[in-house]
Amino acid sequence: MITKWWASEEVWRKIAVWVTAGMLLVLMGLTFDTIPKISVGSERVPAYSIINQRIDYVFDEKRNFQVPVFGGEQPLFGKMLSEEEAEALVTWGKKITQGRNCINCHTLLGNGAYFAPDLTKAWLDPNWVDSDLREGLMINFLMDPPNNSMNSSGRKMPNMDISEEEAKAIIAFLKWMSSIDTNGFPYNFKPVEQEG
Ligand code: HEC
Repeated sequence: MITKWWASEEVWRKIAVWVTAGMLLVLMGLTFDTIPKISVGSERVPAYSIINQRIDYVFDEKRNFQVPVFGGEQPLFGKMLSEEEAEALVTWGKKITQGRNCINCHTLLGNGAYFAPDLTKAWLDPNWVDSDLREGLMINFLMDPPNNSMNSSGRKMPNMDISEEEAKAIIAFLKWMSSIDTNGFPYNFKPVEQEG
């Protein structure tokens, strides 16, 4: 039996090689296009020292969702940090959330689970009442969640033996993360009305 040209192994091998090579190029192009957009200090991902500033959310008519806007000074834990200090604190906070597997229950920037509230914008969660009390409430909560429950989900977070210093680093990470322009994600997020 004569094999039709389009049914030959040779043709399909060539197609596989060309498609793979072509897609590799597309992937490389997309990667180089994406890197500047997701790097810290770019238009959508502010520098770490943004944690020295107030972060608010306003509805953008054109884009049709909430976008982060930055206000005046609002130092975290009463201390203005240099870019290096802010980076060190935020990075430590990020490593704690990774090391402690917070994404087993929570979602961060689209990664994780939905057993517990999405943490991407947790800094601006209305449950933290107002901007003056927020930092203290968050520290208390993280150090002893069952006894400081906000009942945001009707579930309870276990006590994970987080120290005060670790809690502060986590909060710095959460504040920085809330400044990222995530195209309105999570979409059902309603931020706290900040005062002063
Ligand atoms: C076993 C599941 C679980 C794990 C693991 C977990 N959490 Fe939670 N977390 C919850 C639940 C449930 C809530 C809601 C609790 C409530 O409202 O009292 C919550 C609430 C929170 C909140 C408040 C969120 C908001 O917007 O109101 C923060 C912040 C938080 N967790 C941080 C963390 C961090 C940081 C870690 C990792 C160190 C972590 N969680 C690990 C279950 C978990």
